[in-house]
Amino acid sequence: MTTDDRDIAPAVPELETIVSLSKRRGFVFPSSEIYGGINAVWDYGPLGVELKNNVKRAWWKAMVQERDDIVGLDAGILMHPQVWVTSGHVGSFSDPLVECATDHRRFRLDELPGAENLTATELADPKIVEKLGLKCPVDGGPLSAPRRFNLMFQTHMGPVEDDASVIYLRPETAQGSYVNFKNVQQSSRKKLPFGIAQVGKSFRNEISPGNFVFRMREFEQMEMQYFVRPDAAAATFEEWLPRRRAWYEQYGVAPQRLRTREHAPDELAHYAKKAVDVEYRFPFGWKELEGVHNRGDFDLSRHAEASGENLEYFDPATEEHFVPWIVETAGGADRAAFTFLIDSYREDEVKGERRVSLALHPDLAPYKVAVLPLLKKRPEIVELCHAILADLKRDLMAVYDDTAAIGKLYRRQDEIGTPWCVTVDVDSLEDRAVTIRDRDSMTQERVPVETVKRVILDRMDAARG
Ligand code: GAP
Repeated sequence: MTTDDRDIAPAVPELETIVSLSKRRGFVFPSSEIYGGINAVWDYGPLGVELKNNVKRAWWKAMVQERDDIVGLDAGILMHPQVWVTSGHVGSFSDPLVECATDHRRFRLDELPGAENLTATELADPKIVEKLGLKCPVDGGPLSAPRRFNLMFQTHMGPVEDDASVIYLRPETAQGSYVNFKNVQQSSRKKLPFGIAQVGKSFRNEISPGNFVFRMREFEQMEMQYFVRPDAAAATFEEWLPRRRAWYEQYGVAPQRLRTREHAPDELAHYAKKAVDVEYRFPFGWKELEGVHNRGDFDLSRHAEASGENLEYFDPATEEHFVPWIVETAGGADRAAFTFLIDSYREDEVKGERRVSLALHPDLAPYKVAVLPLLKKRPEIVELCHAILADLKRDLMAVYDDTAAIGKLYRRQDEIGTPWCVTVDVDSLEDRAVTIRDRDSMTQERVPVETVKRVILDRMDAARG
């Protein structure tokens, strides 16, 4: 159920364009590559870690810093195993898996050609493979009937590896916010409505990970749980959905490559009363970027019952006791960073040469500014560059590069999304002025050396609107 069924072209036709740029320039590397890699885990290189940290910072700014009604939390990845029984994850957090009888490869049923649009009811039908005549997409072999495959990773806590020591790597950050509801509410003295925001690693043993960092087995989530009166949940949901979509637009994603899609009743997760995804037009189709969920009182009521702890809220205004309902916004830091990378990718032609640039929002760009010498053989020029760099670095991520001619240095910075380059030339030694070049317009402005940082900070501020 989409609100908009138009299809439009992705920002980058081939995923490989982004994968190779990411590897070449140090955004993302395959994990453990010298051992042949490990499926569905990716490592962030020097530029990738900056980009992802900036994405998380931008999210935290919108969700915590700029709001009076949301506070942060950093709960453990390992939690009491009963949390996952109570939350329903041990029983229900699973995907439909089929296995090829000849090569023993396993597939997620709903991702097989011919099965992509099946309803949840159809996916659960034990005869569905037979009915649709589905075959192994690799060797054409017969496929088993679907079975549910639980996505949680298990490990053991303590020195004895027995059933009693089994614990799980969290598959979502949300549960940490629910079990801490009382701690946070009482220590921060928040009144309803209020939210708890978390950013952190989650783990899922995905059957068919892929599409680069889109679906991984180890990834980071940015989730916010908003606690409301039961009668306010529906309206609160309608406020958060456009707000979360607008966040991606605020940081540069083209509005036409975003849409919303409501989950059909039989597609809803076990905890959800209503769920709408914000989707992005990836090179491999429209896919979920973030979900907004009305979880009702499912989580707090179940945790209260299982733990024996009273998780009701007392509303002093109405003198009522009730279990709050939860509206959740659940996004992924990797998926968001990936989206910003894809959507900012540009190719144009400058003086007959192909130019690649990332038109990243300055708040997201790994480096805000590069300081470049026009002549690296002149020690006074290099010295002035380093003085400017040192001043910039007090407030911003800035970088120096003198390993090529100026044209090539500009191209390198364009390709990693650096919004501004400061160039020091021979005249700078006389007039104490330098040139600031803009990544997107490629216009240049001459400014006094002592104003460089102010100009950059002002431009960053202006980009925030
Ligand atoms: N607490 C609710 C929850 O976890 P979800 O839709 O399963 O909801 C929320 O996940 C977001 O986490 C997704 O929209 C996506 O951005 C991110 N995410 C989920 N699984 C992921 C994976 N395997 N790899 C990367 N990101 C993932």
